[in-house]
Parts: sequence; structure tokens; C-alpha cells
Amino acid sequence: MKRIAVFASGSGTNMRNMAAYYENNPTVEVSLVVCNKHGAGVIQYAKQFNIPVLLIDRQVLYGSNELVELLKILHIKLIVLAGFMWLIPQNMITAFPNRIINIHPALLPDFGGKGMYGNKVHEAVIAAGKAFSGITIHYVNEKYDDGAIVLQQKVAVEKGDTPDTLAAKIHALEYKHYPEVIDRLLS
Ligand code: GAR
Repeated sequence: MKRIAVFASGSGTNMRNMAAYYENNPTVEVSLVVCNKHGAGVIQYAKQFNIPVLLIDRQVLYGSNELVELLKILHIKLIVLAGFMWLIPQNMITAFPNRIINIHPALLPDFGGKGMYGNKVHEAVIAAGKAFSGITIHYVNEKYDDGAIVLQQKVAVEKGDTPDTLAAKIHALEYKHYPEVIDRLLS
């Protein structure tokens, strides 16, 4: 079994999508959800799919090697960030080289970086008058939204699009492509 850990702290719809995609899959399993926010929507979705949730604080992530050790003990092959807003520390990047990926709801390097998440990204894209937005799946390094790009997919920003309508289009792209990329990286 190839085990993945999903780090998520938001509504968790990408995690839910992956959990459904891999439910009953004989070779890939979402084995753990790591979350830094009490009450985050992702926790309920993890419960629905019987996936254990580890709630962490900054001390666990930045002040010790405990989480890295746990991920190793669980034989995690890939760490998948899906709406996880804290930087990944160097000890984890070193322990999982090219084995940590993130998804960002825009075409990086534009509209990324600290504080750029969720509808803030879509508001900025619309305010800049861009004809296209999209998704970026990339390896994670020690900066926000910065590692080597694995996949980008575009979507048109249409006249009349609001942050919410653009978010819906982008979520649809995320649900289609994130599991496909995970499959590819695990194969
Ligand atoms: C996703 O759209 C993801 O691209 C974004 O957070 C959302 C999480 O949604 N990530 C970032 O903005 C990273 N900078 P979800 O909780 O419904 O999966």
C-alpha cells in the first residue's frame, strides 16, 4: 500500500475529493490528515472516511522532529498539501525530498506568496484584469508557493466572473488534476 498524508486546514474539499477517489483503491490510501486548525471542515470529512486526524500546533511542526518521525513510521510516501497555510520546515523537506507537493489556485509565479490563499487570490486575479487563471501543482520548498512546477492548467476568467464563480471553476480543475498528479508521482 502506498500511503499519503494530506495536510489541510481549511474547508477540506480537496481532501474529501482525494478520500473519495482513493476509497477502495487497493494500492493507494489517504492514511492521515494533518491539520493546524480546531474545527476546520476537513476534520469532519476525514471522520466520514475514517481517516485519522492529527491536530498540530507550531511547536510540533517547527520545534521538534516528532511529526517527521511519525510520517516515517507510517511509511508515508507522499505529503500532499491541500489548503495548508503554514510553511513546511526544512527538516521535513530534507526527510521527504521531492515527496511534498502543494496546490495553488492560480498560475504561479503570479498571485502566490504569503497571505495569498482562497478568495484573496481570485479577487487579485480579477482586479488585475487577467484573461486566464488556473491551478499550479508544485513541489514544496522552504518558501510559500515556490518549488518546481509539476503541472499547470488554465481556465478563462470571463466577464462577470466573481471570486466565487472563479473559485468554483478552479476547484473543479483541482478535483480533476490533483489525484491524477498524485497517481503519476506514486507510480
Ligand atoms: C484550494 O483551492 C487550494 O488551491 C488553496 O486552498 C484551497 C483549499 O480548499 N491553497 C492555497 O491557496 C495555497 N496557497 P479546500 O480546503 O476546499 O480543499
